[in-house]
Amino acid sequence: MKESSNNSVRFDKVKPFLRTTWMGKNFFHWESLDSTNTQAKLLAQTTGCHGDVVVCEQQRQGRGRRGRSWFSVSGGLFFSVLLKPNLPLHCAPELTLVTAVALAKALRELGAEVWIKWPNDLQVGGKKLVGILTELVSDGKKTQGVVVGIGVNVNGREEDFPEDLRARATSLAAALGGLQSKACVLAVLLQHLESWFDLYASEGFIPIAAAWTALSSTLGQRVRLDLGNEVKEGEALHIDSTGALVLKGDDGQEFCILAGDVEHLRPA
Ligand code: BTN
Repeated sequence: MKESSNNSVRFDKVKPFLRTTWMGKNFFHWESLDSTNTQAKLLAQTTGCHGDVVVCEQQRQGRGRRGRSWFSVSGGLFFSVLLKPNLPLHCAPELTLVTAVALAKALRELGAEVWIKWPNDLQVGGKKLVGILTELVSDGKKTQGVVVGIGVNVNGREEDFPEDLRARATSLAAALGGLQSKACVLAVLLQHLESWFDLYASEGFIPIAAAWTALSSTLGQRVRLDLGNEVKEGEALHIDSTGALVLKGDDGQEFCILAGDVEHLRPA
């Protein structure tokens, strides 16, 4: 089934479903943007506040992790949240894991059997449903905010993707068996994001790590890691107190990584 053109994420459509206190109080909606992350970074450098949400119907130049581009499929949901948390800089990677947990819980509440592939891909049946891009904004001296960008394939169909992505991508509509209201999905996601950021602010990373572990499809797997300049293999053991993935290499030595791409090989 094809997505209807009035499946919009304008504020008047989202508001009836929205149950947040601070997230989305300032809601910036665009028909079309290059990238919601780029727009939210501009906000961070100017008048932006903690919890501002930037969302667009169409994204022309979505950005992905590690300098890659992100294919913004039609029928998808593209938004960024600006955070101005009271956190030391080295805690920023933890925010990505908080986000992954919040989104996985929200999508499970909607009925999708979502798992987290380290560090922050949300998958259903081994296919990607959500991508998260966390970016620090700084003026060179101090941090002006953290932008968490989220792309969810809500209603995009297989044929809407370029051929090379078709086998690796799925949609919420496919997982749930019918087209979904993007406004309702966005409201549910924002509500869970707010609750998990609040929990992280009050109790720190320990409850997040526990929830992440329970939702992880990577732990216990034999994995191949693409670290950019090096490829390593090992067994994924756990995440440490900073969100880094701890692995056991083939030489029996443990090592940890904070960023990279993981391929699941087979159960260890
Ligand atoms: C990845 O898996 O590589 C992360 C993809 C993140 C995509 C989202 S879509 C909304 C926001 N704006 C962007 O330009 N990127 C993120």
